[in-house]
Amino acid sequence: MPQREHWGTRIGLILAMAGNAVGLGNFLRFPTQAAQNGGGVFMIPYMISLLLIAIPLMWVEWGMGRYGGVRGHGTTPAIFGLLWKNRLSRYIGILGLFVPFVVACYYVYIESWTLGYAFFALSGKLPKVSAEMVTSSEAYLEPFKKFLLHYTGMGAADLYHPSLAAYIFFLLTMLLNYAILVRGISGGIERFAKVAMPILFGLAILLMIRVITLETPHGSAVDGLNFLWRPDWSQLGNPKVWLAAAGQVFFTLSLGFGAIITYASYLKRNDDLTLSALTASSLNEFAEIVLGGSIAIPAAAAFFGVAAAQMIAASGAFNLAFVSLPAIFANLPAGWLLGFFWFILLFFAGITSSVAITQPVIAFLEDEFGLSRRKAVTATMLALFLLAHFAILLPKALDEMDFWAGTFFVVVFALCEVTIFFWGFNPSAAWREINRGGLIKLPRIFFFIMRYVTPFFLLIITGWWLFKELPKYLQETSPTIWVTRLLLVGIFLGFGVLVYISGRKEKGHER
Ligand code: PHE
Repeated sequence: MPQREHWGTRIGLILAMAGNAVGLGNFLRFPTQAAQNGGGVFMIPYMISLLLIAIPLMWVEWGMGRYGGVRGHGTTPAIFGLLWKNRLSRYIGILGLFVPFVVACYYVYIESWTLGYAFFALSGKLPKVSAEMVTSSEAYLEPFKKFLLHYTGMGAADLYHPSLAAYIFFLLTMLLNYAILVRGISGGIERFAKVAMPILFGLAILLMIRVITLETPHGSAVDGLNFLWRPDWSQLGNPKVWLAAAGQVFFTLSLGFGAIITYASYLKRNDDLTLSALTASSLNEFAEIVLGGSIAIPAAAAFFGVAAAQMIAASGAFNLAFVSLPAIFANLPAGWLLGFFWFILLFFAGITSSVAITQPVIAFLEDEFGLSRRKAVTATMLALFLLAHFAILLPKALDEMDFWAGTFFVVVFALCEVTIFFWGFNPSAAWREINRGGLIKLPRIFFFIMRYVTPFFLLIITGWWLFKELPKYLQETSPTIWVTRLLLVGIFLGFGVLVYISGRKEKGHER
């Protein structure tokens, strides 16, 4: 078995894991989800999901990853196969390739917009507006809406036609991802995270301070914070709010994507896991709740008033990021610089996450097929590049991919992980595995949470999706949606074939 790579230092590992988790989700998805789901009351299910589902799952993913890595495997087809001696387990593990790969197909594209916009901000190419135009938020935002629409070309009904700039920045983003990934775990991902993460936190803190002090005749940032944090209690009993909170916690911590497992597979046998996982998660939560909650929405509230900010939030994360924030910054002193900071912040958040969702397939090719790193990275990125065109060109494909891979299967996959580790495998061995080498010892109660509570909640959420939400989505039928669904089935089967072949090879070795 060839020597697997390892993380170089503990701080590097923690920053890489934090980079994995801190992404566009923290700065865009979190504030819009909170605003759409009762504001402050969203935080109650959020915290409960964090404690009972996410943090336990985080330890489970780190534990499974390290267990597999020590045995030469960094992805779930092989790891599930090791943990649970059942013919099915390898095939359940396909999800650990399918989910991150499909998400990567659109994530990298959106990430490339942030790079493009950073460039536009710096070069003064974004639309110009003046304060007198802020009579209605609609009119004021219009030029920025048009700009985005032109950039992405997402107005067309037949095929989207992105601008040349969008395509060039997409290519550039792919190349940058390639450059990091091809240098490997400690030489590429870790080294980059050590530079990017401190810059990211610095920029976010700077922007937060700037935004918090904003006040205009229409409102103040504090109004925005009040709106975001004042609970609308009537929403607490609404299952939609609970589902949204659980979904957000998954997305932001990168849980159920296979990405944490693969990163953790580069730990050494006795490396600390308990405290490192908690530290990386805490960094993510700081970036999400404190920083993510204090930039976009408060800025919109200060500028357009709370009511308009609420509407902007409801119109989605892209509008917040690419329309309202640049429009707001355009009107502040040194706005071009603030805009640049905002988009570079998003870009760093994005790229440290996109390398994490690309790495599982790379690891799979390296571990199970013995490909060299360069070959594995090239093959993976080439496939990614081709398939990303569906998200770039085909109307609604991006949303459809996000629904299946980024929302539905994430929960299903998380349920599989925790049940395979704490039921299919030996529960006390799983508990020991997680605690080995730990700088903190986990309270025993988490054993019961991982064995009973987390799977139970995940089962309920999965059931809810299956019976309540899925039928709604399946009703949506347009040709492009069916093309996307077919594509997704194709990707799944493709990975299935690879898993089958790798399983036969493994058997051949055993003989
Ligand atoms: N956690 C990332 C975010 O908040 C998204 C992500 C999920 C990244 C899974 C990598 C793996 O944007």
